[in-house]
Amino acid sequence: MKPLNLFFTALCLVALGSCAPKSAQENFYTLKNEAGMQVTITPFGGRISSILVPDRNAKLIDVVLGFEKMEDYYPGNNQTDFGASIGRYANRIAQGRFTLDGVEYDLPKNNFGHCLHGGPSGWQYQLYEVVEADSRHLKLKIVSPDGDNGFPGEVTAYTTYTLTEGNAIEISYEAVTTAPTVINMTNHSYFNLSGDPAHHSVCDDLLYVNASAFTPVDSTYMTTGEIRPVESTPFDFREPRLIGERIGADDTQIRNGNGYDHNWVLDTKGDMTEIAVSLVCPESGVKLDVYTDEPGIQIYSGNFLDGSITGKGGVKYSQRSGICFETQKYPDTPNKPQWPSAVLRPGETYRSHCTFAFSTVAESKTE
Ligand code: BGC
Repeated sequence: MKPLNLFFTALCLVALGSCAPKSAQENFYTLKNEAGMQVTITPFGGRISSILVPDRNAKLIDVVLGFEKMEDYYPGNNQTDFGASIGRYANRIAQGRFTLDGVEYDLPKNNFGHCLHGGPSGWQYQLYEVVEADSRHLKLKIVSPDGDNGFPGEVTAYTTYTLTEGNAIEISYEAVTTAPTVINMTNHSYFNLSGDPAHHSVCDDLLYVNASAFTPVDSTYMTTGEIRPVESTPFDFREPRLIGERIGADDTQIRNGNGYDHNWVLDTKGDMTEIAVSLVCPESGVKLDVYTDEPGIQIYSGNFLDGSITGKGGVKYSQRSGICFETQKYPDTPNKPQWPSAVLRPGETYRSHCTFAFSTVAESKTE
């Protein structure tokens, strides 16, 4: 190569390097703390692709399902919401329809006749822009045009991930709009706290849910509008119980959800200092505590995973090899005015928070 060409090549590499992701892997950003915890995120769909935490023997294990390459998250390659930052409306809107200020909106129906997770090209399938990045935090931005997936108003939304020194991932969501709309953002990580999703089912983990009620669904996974006490049902996790204990129960709600795929009505009432959900893996000793200022949480026990998706390390993700804790407004609130509203108007800022805090327990217990 001529000296001049060499000079320009070197210049280009320096220029590229200055805006390239900080991690070794292209298109992935890795947050790290002093304790050694690492969280890797790709701007495509704002997806958390790995979370490395110490198990009870201080060995770092990866506790979420995901892929090694960004392209594996493209919907043409894999239809999954692994690790995603979902928008503009997480969960379902009945028959893809809602009325706001007297105007009816029609949304794509991508799930049993309903609109799920903001439609087939929701934000989880879009490339977010990286607006801030350092070793402890990553701030992503998305601009969703007026009419995006049928929703009104141009929305500018941010998802910020912060890794704390105490081994917690704090996720904060913010959005503004140019016209009245509905917003409900969440994270769709599939957790497997054993670090070994090839062999460990979440059915063998202990779950605690700080909720006295849940919202039942019909056979199309749509909330009926009822708020039902968990008392004497397989949905009562107010004392830690093994997920597998009642997941096959002879119960209409378990059948309708194909397992657990329901919204719990949290008793935390928006208090971020109270645990909403805890999961403990007896095998690894890893404990996850979820905190949120939202009124609800969708607990989805990976019922639709069927081994057809191959993830990190060539592992085929089988049914219940991961569980999601999606902090949220209750499903279909745009059609259920009696529930906490998801409406966002110009001049207001939508804010929502979720913390995934990791620790270890010596034995299989939650406290
Ligand atoms: C829903 C499931 C759905 C899954 C897809 C969950 O939030 O509740 O029914 O299959 O998302 O990722």
